[in-house]
Amino acid sequence: MKVLMIASECVPLIKTGGLGDVVGALAGALARGGVQTAVALPAYESVLDKFPAEPTGLDVAVSLGDRRRSAAVLKAAVDGGVPAYLIRNDEYFARSGLYGTAKGDYPDNAERFAFFSKAALELAAATGPWDVLHCHDWQSALAPVLNRLGAGKQSAKTIMTIHNLAHQGLFPYSEWPLLGLDIKYFTPKHLEFYGKINFLKGGILFADALTTVSRKYAEEILTPEYGCGLEGVLRERQRNLRGILNGVDYREWNPESDNFIKNNYGPGNMAGKAACKQDLQQLYNLPQRPSTPLLGIVSRLADQKGIDLLLDIVDQLLAMDLQLIILGAGDEKYQELIAALPAAHPKRIGVEIGFDNALAHKIEAAADIFLMPSRYEPCGLNQIYSLKYGTVPVVRATGGLDDTIEDFDPLSGKGNGFKFAEYSGEAFLSAIKRALAVYVNEKAWKHVVANGMAADFSWERAAADYLQLYRQVIGVRAAAAQLRA
Ligand code: ADP
Ligand code: GLC
Repeated sequence: MKVLMIASECVPLIKTGGLGDVVGALAGALARGGVQTAVALPAYESVLDKFPAEPTGLDVAVSLGDRRRSAAVLKAAVDGGVPAYLIRNDEYFARSGLYGTAKGDYPDNAERFAFFSKAALELAAATGPWDVLHCHDWQSALAPVLNRLGAGKQSAKTIMTIHNLAHQGLFPYSEWPLLGLDIKYFTPKHLEFYGKINFLKGGILFADALTTVSRKYAEEILTPEYGCGLEGVLRERQRNLRGILNGVDYREWNPESDNFIKNNYGPGNMAGKAACKQDLQQLYNLPQRPSTPLLGIVSRLADQKGIDLLLDIVDQLLAMDLQLIILGAGDEKYQELIAALPAAHPKRIGVEIGFDNALAHKIEAAADIFLMPSRYEPCGLNQIYSLKYGTVPVVRATGGLDDTIEDFDPLSGKGNGFKFAEYSGEAFLSAIKRALAVYVNEKAWKHVVANGMAADFSWERAAADYLQLYRQVIGVRAAAAQLRA
């Protein structure tokens, strides 16, 4: 079995969020399971600066309207030596951001990622044959379309994984010539979406199978509330859509071996967690009181993440005897509002605006409670990391948050966190208060912490589910070929 992942992020080379974590870890887990796996990724400037990459001698060239653009293909290694093919075109990818800056998206994203999908297909043709091209999110969503409708060099089946339906790759009709597709596909039945080109819609319609990253989100996206206008198209393909919950790479996220944190700890040896808490309180100049509950947030600062709910309740929250540490980057409006909080609440809150992996690990280890009030959450990884770190999640019951967190019941001792349903500051605050009420009961708190730490969300289960899906799509092809013969 040979599987090529086509994606715009992959750890350890580059990530802006969970997509990068998932692509890198899934590729590694598949390779350990005996699948011949590789990743195709844009050769961003920051990747070339930080990681050794060797030339492959391969060049790929593609047409974009009346332009011809080429790329050199380099090779780096990711998890367990899985090859990552880096598609290098400096006009498109030698920039400070992946998709844009804090002010907005790059204006030529249609061209950049049409180029990426086309170049990845050329690369696949030159390095294949591949059984499966596994595409992730809108940035690679043209690959299933072009693999079906394009020059037809590939026999590979395509899988489209939706990590976030809100980002679809929507572009004006004037970009259509870039795709090189017949105009008959610019209709609402195909790639048109209210007068615009929709890359992800193309991927949804033309991939052989669709997945998303939790069961709950797979159901939610069939509804107008979560479907972002694509619920109709998704319902059409519902038979081919599955939710496969992401795994977690416990080699990266494990308090027993984490190199970023002050002291290692684990179930049965929790003293190190107290040292991590003290370390972070010190770092942010917060009073070093072991019993004061410390709440943590590590998040992209985007509407998705429920930052407005946090801002609604932050004054009431910080009026209580607790501390809050926030690490995040994203929308300028949220960055500014959050950066202003410490001045208003000295000695109560620590804030870091930016992307800092080491600090993300430190917060996971130091906090008692982790907050994720997401408006929607396809899977969410931080709540799963939190469980392993004995940091109890308070989450909104949506998508993967709902699938992974079970509300704690003090009577039965079952559950690993605290959930709320209604998207309101009031509901969020009351869930936090429920958590705090259990926090002061040492015995009950130990219970909820232990329940979380005992859970196992390692990648092996998810990789096995993907493998089964790959076999299924390939099997379908084999059966169809037999029928035709
Ligand atoms: P999403 O992909 O929607 O951002 P996930 O919970 O799936 O949400 O994954 C987020 C990943 O990005 C986690 O690994 C998290 O630790 C990391 N992350 C998010 N924001 C930051 C930040 N400001 N600094 C460091 N890591 C971050
Ligand atoms: C997206 C989603 C997040 C998910 C991640 C990895 O960024 O927002 O919920 O965990 O992709 O699949």
